[in-house]
Amino acid sequence: MLKVGVIGGGSISEFHLRPYFENPNVEIVAICDTNEVRLHSLGKKYLVENLYTEVGEFLANEQIDAVSICTWNNSHADIAIQALQKNKHVLLEKPLSLNLEEAYAVEAAVKESKKILQVGNVRRFATNVGVLKKFIDAGELGEIYYAKASCLRRLGNPGGWFSDISKSGGGPLIDLGTHMIDLCWYLMGKPKPVSVSGNTYKKLGNRSHIENLSFYKAADYNAEHNDVEDLANGLIRFENGASLFVDVSFTLHAKQDEISVKLYGENGGAEVEPELAIIKEQHETILNITPQIDLLSFDFAGSFVNEINHFVDCCINNVQPISPVSDGVEVTKMLLAIYESAATNQEIKL
Ligand SMILES: NC(=O)c1ccc[n+]([C@@H]2O[C@H](COP(=O)([O-])OP(=O)(O)OC[C@H]3O[C@@H](n4cnc5c(N)ncnc54)[C@H](O)[C@@H]3O)[C@@H](O)[C@H]2O)c1
Repeated sequence: MLKVGVIGGGSISEFHLRPYFENPNVEIVAICDTNEVRLHSLGKKYLVENLYTEVGEFLANEQIDAVSICTWNNSHADIAIQALQKNKHVLLEKPLSLNLEEAYAVEAAVKESKKILQVGNVRRFATNVGVLKKFIDAGELGEIYYAKASCLRRLGNPGGWFSDISKSGGGPLIDLGTHMIDLCWYLMGKPKPVSVSGNTYKKLGNRSHIENLSFYKAADYNAEHNDVEDLANGLIRFENGASLFVDVSFTLHAKQDEISVKLYGENGGAEVEPELAIIKEQHETILNITPQIDLLSFDFAGSFVNEINHFVDCCINNVQPISPVSDGVEVTKMLLAIYESAATNQEIKL
């Protein structure tokens, strides 16, 4: 039985707690949140008695084998390192860290501790992605030389800590771009990034005056403070000649929200979002193939279940996760280079 603790009991924590609660090989033994009301309500809901408002006291609980870290971005690296030093396996929500020094420090702590650290790149665990990965690994797309991903919200700045750069590290790029870059890079076969060019824009503010349109909000929603970008785009070049273009927004004068993830290879292409499709050529004819699976798009809750179950299996069987810390470091490099390129108005060599 794996004994698990969860740090940070806000919006995303339920997507960790519920699958742990339902996994027969897991017992949730502790929860930590600085907000006592949320903490006690989660304790009651998931029948957990060890409730902490202080991370140090939580991590001192020797019963805990593994933790999920679901706090603000600026505490991810620090809490992960402390947890590893206390001999606990770690499932760390994205992003890995706010800067490269922290990312390398987490990587070093993983090596030192010999514990499992899985980065919360939940989109890798979507069923449609798992299906496509099998086709890619079998060579159906050949070498993927171009990928393109958009995650554009017309209205969706989550406010609170998300829109405070000192706590989040940035806006849609570090929040949504992490997922987009990670997913494409993973499916492209993790080529080595060599240069990055990007732009960020702060043109529209958070548009909290807009009425009658709902969106994802931080547990402590507050629209007063906003110093993050509204829109970011980036072009990443890889050593093998492949390239990736990504654009993401918290708000934009767009007709509707848009999510699209597309990959183009020498032997075929694929769309992961908005719906899985595989594009091939056979006998002088182009084929648009629709895999017959229950859901062709990203299933938010179901992908978290897959992610949590994978983490639990890795901890119990002591095997490396499909989303290890080294991948988190590479994605952090690409992401930060987009911010640096935008700030300096030039291409960044990695
Ligand atoms: N994988 C995904 O698709 C996905 C989606 C949403 C959020 N996230 C990530 O999950 C994390 C949390 O996001 P959220 O939307 O749940 O935010 P949230 O604001 O709803 O919840 C964060 C919680 O952490 C608590 N907290 C913050 N610092 C703490 C500390 N030092 N010790 C104890 N508790 C602390 C807060 O009180 C709050 O309850 C973020 O890193 C975010 O990037 C991931």
